Amino acid sequence: MKILVVGGGGREHAIVKKIKENPEVECIYALPGNGGIANDAICVPIGAKDIDAIVEFALKNGIDYAIVAPDDPLVLGAVDKLEQAGINCFGPNAKAARIEGSKVFSKNLMKKYGIPTAAYEVFSNAADALEYIKTAPIPIVVKADGLALGKGVIIAMTRKEAEDAIKSIMEDRIFGASGSQIVIEEYLEGPEVSVLSFTDGKTIIPMISSMDHKRAKDGDKGLNTGGMGTVAPNPYYTKEIADRCMKEIFIPTINAMNSEKSTFKGCLYFGLMITSSGPKVIEYNCRFGDPETQVVLPLLKTDLLSIMRAVTKERLSEIKVEFSLESAVCVIMASGGYPLGYEKGYEIFIPDEIKEDIYVAGAKAEDGKLFTSGGRVLGVTATGSSLKEAIKAAYEKTEKIHFENAFFRHDIGAKALLALEK
Ligand code: AMP
Ligand code: GLY
Repeated sequence: MKILVVGGGGREHAIVKKIKENPEVECIYALPGNGGIANDAICVPIGAKDIDAIVEFALKNGIDYAIVAPDDPLVLGAVDKLEQAGINCFGPNAKAARIEGSKVFSKNLMKKYGIPTAAYEVFSNAADALEYIKTAPIPIVVKADGLALGKGVIIAMTRKEAEDAIKSIMEDRIFGASGSQIVIEEYLEGPEVSVLSFTDGKTIIPMISSMDHKRAKDGDKGLNTGGMGTVAPNPYYTKEIADRCMKEIFIPTINAMNSEKSTFKGCLYFGLMITSSGPKVIEYNCRFGDPETQVVLPLLKTDLLSIMRAVTKERLSEIKVEFSLESAVCVIMASGGYPLGYEKGYEIFIPDEIKEDIYVAGAKAEDGKLFTSGGRVLGVTATGSSLKEAIKAAYEKTEKIHFENAFFRHDIGAKALLALEK
């Protein structure tokens, strides 16, 4: 089989490596891929949002199956167009991808179908939002409606911060059209859990739970980033919480999407907060998380391509999805300065014996060498029979990788270890 993977980050590298394990796979194309993915797939310089070019490439190259990984092409309808061209795909169509593409859509969906989430109001003009904020409880959370590269959420600790957030999103349009509507919602507290799931709209199979570390610096200090590291499983996701999530959140969500004629097929990501009154949805993503995928897929024992094809055929109920009982940890190495400005073009040195455990996010290959080209450069994953062992192994490998100005957090998994020891 000829497989096409749309995207070019660490998540896509993890997907490509897992797909490669299937003996039926003859070749994998990554569009655009990156310098690290190039070791495992044929990278083609077509952007993930260039949907017409992606469809044309797929038709010309006899692609049997396409996996669309990032949010942008999914929201823009890449799966709709590929399917219209007769190509089987993994990923939701544009209607279903609204669950991530529009916060107004997802919040209204949760309200309509009684799915637990933070209380909220929607605003279409800044004056009304500013009026509301005068008396609303603080802290409060301001969210741009549309996609905003993961930066569209502002936790306002003061009234002034909330006002500034409203003005910059709705008046200055720092996220463009994504800010034509905003959601203002209740501030929730509690540990966060990421749960990715496979669903074909009839059956939903949650994957092993995970924990992201979003802040740039140790001790959850510094700016928000795309994710500086992950662990799986997440100790806060107990059997009791998992059962509640299945009953109160997961099944109601796929049923709600079916009722809205927006059946979701693909990987549905639940960003959850375990509050004192139970688990609540912080956000949905219409895709695999990054860097959650880099710890979840290494623990997956069942063949990934078989699961994906069963989702496409709406026969997920026939598949038994199994995960290893081990733990996994991923440490992200980033370019100094990230998530703000950073330099690129530094050579990356990775010892051969750990190459297989590296998921490259932002690097270019030139003359057989690898050079940094992004803020998050790569993720280093290790598994172990306990979380403690996985953390130790991940950091041993991380210390062996070098590039100028590299930085990483030293406490990935520390909070999870504390929770286990409680
Ligand atoms: P999102 O992009 O929706 O995942 O939001 C980014 C981060 O903001 C989340 O991972 C949470 O840590 C935080 N966040 C979002 N909504 C809320 C909320 N209602 N209360 C507290 N924290 C929130
Ligand atoms: N790690 C969070 C996300 O993929 O959006």
